[in-house]
Amino acid sequence: MTVRFILNGEDVEVFTEAGERLISILREHFALLSAKSGCLAGSCGCCLVSFNGAVSPACLIPAFRVHGGEVITFEGYSQTVEYQDIAAGFAQAGVESCAYCETGKILTAEMLLTGNLRPGREEFFSAFRGIKCRCTEPQSLYRGVLAAGENRRRRIYGRSS
Ligand code: FES
Ligand code: FES
Repeated sequence: MTVRFILNGEDVEVFTEAGERLISILREHFALLSAKSGCLAGSCGCCLVSFNGAVSPACLIPAFRVHGGEVITFEGYSQTVEYQDIAAGFAQAGVESCAYCETGKILTAEMLLTGNLRPGREEFFSAFRGIKCRCTEPQSLYRGVLAAGENRRRRIYGRSS
């Protein structure tokens, strides 16, 4: 079937095969490679995208479901000023990364900060439970998220508290 949706702010359409998933559409039809093919079972977090406003694993989303919806990948998100808050916060906290699931961590941080610029530990661990990152220490990631929240507060309100 032909699927029409908004991808990174643009109206797009693509013919999809039965059983095809969003992950393959992004990678094979649009050459958007930030969402990676990892476990393909929704449990590693390396294929996360924003789908209709929620951070979701692209490997679990059937292609037909995106019809009429909106998808934002890291390629689109990284053009925003919001991304700058998070990239700077992660750098300030020394968050280390091999880049395998980096985009998932950044999109998840965005989702978390959209609801609360100062998330507590429980909120943080709950939001990141779907990401099985092997190279980032959780405490440093938490500090990175808090630093990102601080950057955003300063950018929006012109002060840190
Ligand atoms: S590849 Fe989608 S969650 Fe692992
Ligand atoms: S960035 Fe997650 S495994 Fe390296």
